[in-house]
Amino acid sequence: MEQNTRVVDGRDVRGGSRDKTGFALVRLPGSSRSSGFDRDVRRGLAGPRKQLPPKYFYDARGSLLFERICGTPEYYPTRTESALLARHARGILDQVAPGTLVEIGSGSSEKTDHFFAACEQLGFYVRYQPFDVCDEALRAAAARLRSRYVWLDMELLVGDYAVDLPALPYSEGPRLFLFLGGTIGNLNHDEALTFLAALRNAMHPEDFLLLGFDRIKEKRVLDAAYNDAAGYTAQFNLNLLKVLNARLDADFDVRRFAHVAFFNEDEGQIEMHLQARCTHEVSMSRIGLVTRFVEGETILTEISRKFTPEGMRALLEAAGFRWRRHEEADSGYFSLVLVTPT
Ligand code: AVJ
Repeated sequence: MEQNTRVVDGRDVRGGSRDKTGFALVRLPGSSRSSGFDRDVRRGLAGPRKQLPPKYFYDARGSLLFERICGTPEYYPTRTESALLARHARGILDQVAPGTLVEIGSGSSEKTDHFFAACEQLGFYVRYQPFDVCDEALRAAAARLRSRYVWLDMELLVGDYAVDLPALPYSEGPRLFLFLGGTIGNLNHDEALTFLAALRNAMHPEDFLLLGFDRIKEKRVLDAAYNDAAGYTAQFNLNLLKVLNARLDADFDVRRFAHVAFFNEDEGQIEMHLQARCTHEVSMSRIGLVTRFVEGETILTEISRKFTPEGMRALLEAAGFRWRRHEEADSGYFSLVLVTPT
């Protein structure tokens, strides 16, 4: 196992690259994205049912496009969850009294402001450990937060939440773990159970987890959320091909693929695909892979599962959590649940 890299205030503590922006930054083993990448692409594109893991969407451009999606009128999850956090951040802080907020998949950290604003009102100062696969997004978020909340002590964690939970550096408890945005929906049932159990394992008895999950609702609303009229979701999806081109010396022509996303009612999930507009071959020189696409064939690039509160409760209980508090939007579109280790 490789060593974590720790950079504090631009000074290198245990070996690794310098952080010019001067934030404490820890690179967890899963942050070396290249190791798993080649294998994931080979596994995903060599066979007949093509698919790729959604974590590769988030290069610098992908992370920015995701921010754009969040601002579209069709994509309700971000603003719905943000309104829930605005309403309940204080109550949650009162209940948990955390020493540290650990946010998994923190991205731009924008919704987390509701907690920091509540901290200021309560005169109660927490430490913040944002954790994300995209170090550019982490640095940009840290710079923004630093200027708004000068008191905020941050440690940035770059890694992959599928593998790095056991390696999280400890920080003063009780810790409030945040896993927001409905990102849990990117995992299928077994993956979600494995992830939640690993998180449960990394937690101490006094820690809490606040989980945001998207709810099952009318297909028309869900379909629109993943097919915004401005086309950001399409750009976000197609950007994955640019990531492959850059990292594998591949020759994907984005004009030969179409964005397709729909709610699969039987599975209770959004499925996002890249569909070949014509039959053609693509070569990925760096890994010596040539793949043929037949017209109409797709690469499954993301699932985004939607839940009922009962379904989510069963999943959390199976992973070893106890349901403590549930807050939902009046529309029933989105939920926050606060749980503790059983
Ligand atoms: C970041 C995984 C929560 O599933 O809704 C948004 C990603 N994909 N539009 C989601 C996404 C297309 C998003 N998550």
